[in-house]
Amino acid sequence: MKIDILSLFPNMFDGVFTESIIKRAIEKGIVDIKIHNFRDYSKDIHSSVDDTPFGGGAGMVLMCQPIFDCIKSLKTDDSIVIMLTPDGEIYNQKKAIELSKKKHLIFLCGHYEGFDERIRSICDMFISIGDYVLTGGELASMVLVDSITRLLEGAITKESLDSESFSNNLLDYPTYTKPREYAGMEVPEVLLSGDHKKIDEWRKLQQIEKTRKLRPDLLEDKDAK
Ligand code: ADE
Repeated sequence: MKIDILSLFPNMFDGVFTESIIKRAIEKGIVDIKIHNFRDYSKDIHSSVDDTPFGGGAGMVLMCQPIFDCIKSLKTDDSIVIMLTPDGEIYNQKKAIELSKKKHLIFLCGHYEGFDERIRSICDMFISIGDYVLTGGELASMVLVDSITRLLEGAITKESLDSESFSNNLLDYPTYTKPREYAGMEVPEVLLSGDHKKIDEWRKLQQIEKTRKLRPDLLEDKDAK
């Protein structure tokens, strides 16, 4: 998969893409991630990317030209252009799975008061990572890259994906490691039994009970994966 990220703050991505699973996925060629500073596309002599809003009001608005030109230079027939914005569709695991099947994602991260409304005309999707306002779309795009990359074939083992939270609309089952007893708390007996059929049944039951208790809404959401 190819991912292009448009941002005025490329340094914000250092660390997140140079550690752990994402780093390895890049090294293995599973994902190719490039950050583009759309200021480089500004045709203004001062390299401006924003201006005051028509009609007055607070803050600065990102203007069309640098973003249109940057996206135009990257876009192909396989591309999906995604604007990260608090007024977008709320992101979830189902959306992560859907996006992990695409060939090329272009993420557009804003800052300041927002985008010139006409920029929406060149975007295919509008995604929010929650009902709160971030200083920009960078952190949101990192959340998407992380959650999508780990779903790509070869990034992590398939077994890890099968049982994790939100697959089949259920939260993950509880896990334990050594020692068998810690601070008076015991590991459930069934996990020490060696009976894998029993262990699988116990885990499934735990998933259902945990989901009913903590996230009953997931059990009602028939559409989610
Ligand atoms: N930009 C600012 N806030 C955001 C949010 N909650 N989700 C996505 N992009 C954003």
